[in-house]
Amino acid sequence: MPIEMRSKKINSLKVITSLKEMQKICLNLRKTDSKKISLIPTMGALHDGHLGLIKKAKKKKSTIIVTIFVNPKQFNDKKDLVKYPKTFVQDLDKLERMDVDYLFAPRTKDIYPDDFQTKVVVKNLKNHLCGLSRDGHFDGVTSVVLKIFNITLPDYAFFGEKDLQQLIIIRQMTKDLNLPIQIISHPIVREKDGLAMSSRNIRLSKKERTIAPFIYRGLVEAKKEFKKNNNRSASQVTKDLRQYLLKNNINKIEYIKIIDSSDISYPKRPSLKNYIVIAVQIGSIRLIDNLKL
Ligand code: PAF
Repeated sequence: MPIEMRSKKINSLKVITSLKEMQKICLNLRKTDSKKISLIPTMGALHDGHLGLIKKAKKKKSTIIVTIFVNPKQFNDKKDLVKYPKTFVQDLDKLERMDVDYLFAPRTKDIYPDDFQTKVVVKNLKNHLCGLSRDGHFDGVTSVVLKIFNITLPDYAFFGEKDLQQLIIIRQMTKDLNLPIQIISHPIVREKDGLAMSSRNIRLSKKERTIAPFIYRGLVEAKKEFKKNNNRSASQVTKDLRQYLLKNNINKIEYIKIIDSSDISYPKRPSLKNYIVIAVQIGSIRLIDNLKL
């Protein structure tokens, strides 16, 4: 891209840190601008998965707000919070190149002042899958997402399908609380070797990185076998997938389940609309993935 074009784009991204200012801008946009508002909430360390969400939002011809906030309340493990990748300068560059209108990057003490007391809990859906090992994680997610919704007042909010349980929970919260926001999801974006893109991938060692693509290969294999014989029970599918992962040096398997994504129930006799969902640990890095059967 020629330098003069790039610098023009750089000037168009407005970085806002103040909650009040962001909300004022959004209230004003809603009053004076006929364009809708699209929100892409992130924790930074932006990768092609996030950029896919932004590209999808751009199709709406709306004002685009990306947020970067590493939300301490959704980290059950404080060490994980400290190690969470922070690449703010590179993130800014990516957002400028994508011609994003606003980056909202609030400070922790402004999002959670000393007297902060409120928690948003989606009661049942959080008590499954990742919620079983990550105590308080989804309460942290829903609390911050609602807060960001209230500050940025979006018409559309975009979330990736890799965090499928998160997506299901946010849809439920939006419905339960009658939020006038359309939740739009985007399919998982993968590396060339199939590994689902995640901000955590950069923390994998070289060796771990060679093992990680077997998660997706295993999912594809399970789907292939199911297509050949769709009378297979959920326990047969998950048992075979477990064997496949163990054979390929993925030994720390937190869960492999087949779910109905409308309510996170576990059909014994799955159908093509169900998802295989998986969480494993490779070294010290926890990775999740899923595939529709
Ligand atoms: O998916 C994420 O990056 C986070 O959970 C989210 C939705 C930005 C809330 O902190």
